Amino acid sequence: MATSARLLPAVAALCALALTGTACDGGVRGTPGGSGLRDPYFPKAGNGGYDVTHYALTLDYTPATRHLTATAVVTARAAHDLTAFDLDLAGLRVEKVTVGGKGARWNRTGQELTVRPHDDLRDGETFRTTVRYSGTPQTVTDPDGSKEGWLFTADGALGLGEPVGSMAWFPGNHHPSDKATYDITVTVPQGLRAVSNGEPTGQRTSGGRTAYSWHMAQPMASYLATVAIGHFDIARTTGPHGLPVLTAVDPTQAAASRPALAKIPGVLAWEESRFGPYPFSSAGAIVERPGDVGYALETQSRPVFPGAPDTSTLVHELAHQWYGDSVTPADWQGMWLNEGFATYAEWLYTEDHGGRSAQQSFTDLYRGHDDALWDFPPAKPAGAAVISDSPVYGRGAMVLQKIRQKVGDDTFFAILRGWAATYRYGTASTADFTAYVEKKAPGEDFSEIWKDWLYGEGKPARP
Ligand code: TRP
Ligand code: ZN
Repeated sequence: MATSARLLPAVAALCALALTGTACDGGVRGTPGGSGLRDPYFPKAGNGGYDVTHYALTLDYTPATRHLTATAVVTARAAHDLTAFDLDLAGLRVEKVTVGGKGARWNRTGQELTVRPHDDLRDGETFRTTVRYSGTPQTVTDPDGSKEGWLFTADGALGLGEPVGSMAWFPGNHHPSDKATYDITVTVPQGLRAVSNGEPTGQRTSGGRTAYSWHMAQPMASYLATVAIGHFDIARTTGPHGLPVLTAVDPTQAAASRPALAKIPGVLAWEESRFGPYPFSSAGAIVERPGDVGYALETQSRPVFPGAPDTSTLVHELAHQWYGDSVTPADWQGMWLNEGFATYAEWLYTEDHGGRSAQQSFTDLYRGHDDALWDFPPAKPAGAAVISDSPVYGRGAMVLQKIRQKVGDDTFFAILRGWAATYRYGTASTADFTAYVEKKAPGEDFSEIWKDWLYGEGKPARP
């Protein structure tokens, strides 16, 4: 771009300011990528300056010692000229970092692993960072008190990531706005299993250890990555259009889970009829022992359940595959785009299966006595500690019913399907959603719904 003659004074100025620290031997080009994406709820989550396209994670874990030895290969594209960039990683010991095959310097502060590549990176360049790390991964406690990250189970471990737990088990750009494809290989003592997202791509035993490989071919937010290590009963079946369905169930939960998991193909077929084509190339579930995990999570293609799920929880987590996993909130303020939709899916399933109508669910909630429902508006949670609270779920679903009331069923279901199709495999914000709805129903005025139901404080005066 510029000649060296023109560049030199700028380089000298950068070095004098000590902005970059390492490469002041001539030719510094660019700036550090930034240590967060200024998420309104998790400002340190994610990193600036690059976009990850692929994670190749190789994990070796021994439950008896709780020891992890791992290598992460992160392929990314520089979003501007970079002298340094951050990955998020909490705990663990970093042993070696290379960028483009060359040894890189790094340092660590809190959850930031700052990498200074040997050579500066150019805007648009695709580069590969390899991080070798080891140790016992941490269980992360969320602002709301729930546990995520690395969870120790009776016979293994479970990696979960919503909202910020994935940094406890692999370095990455841990923000929902940066989605990537994944290859995950987990090696465990022979006799145990490792299950992850997507399709199994191989299994190899040698020297008393077995490596299980998994591939996620569609873009995935890092909070939706999972690994489950332990004893599992594996079952395979097919869903709509021959979709491979693989379930992994802790043996203590097998009998109780069987009837619930048998519903997966039917629930997926019903969801396709309402939401459009299932977005991923496989489906299924992971059932762990309750007590270790207190909540279900919509991990991509293969949600995790703490014990045998009831039908509404199954419907909810499978609906997230469209709303949350395929269409992902651009930041954590958009959580209602996950939970409002998945809750509405439960209402709709009930309506379509001989139960009360979604309108009735709405009215019951409006008249009910859950005062916490009105604590804050769904599109503006009061803080990081409440992003999984009832206004995000219940009142979020109520926003959708308000839209249905206004536009009628045909347009409403076209909106549900169209939203999933338009933003498939991407990310979207509340503003994207309101703009989309307004475009699909140009004659209607939604301003009061947005003002009272989406962004307004307190209980709207009329249902
Ligand atoms: N997002 C999950 C779901 O609704 C639930 C969940 C994940 C959760 N982490 C949490 C709920 C923490 C409360 C607290 O499917
Ligand atoms: Zn949910």
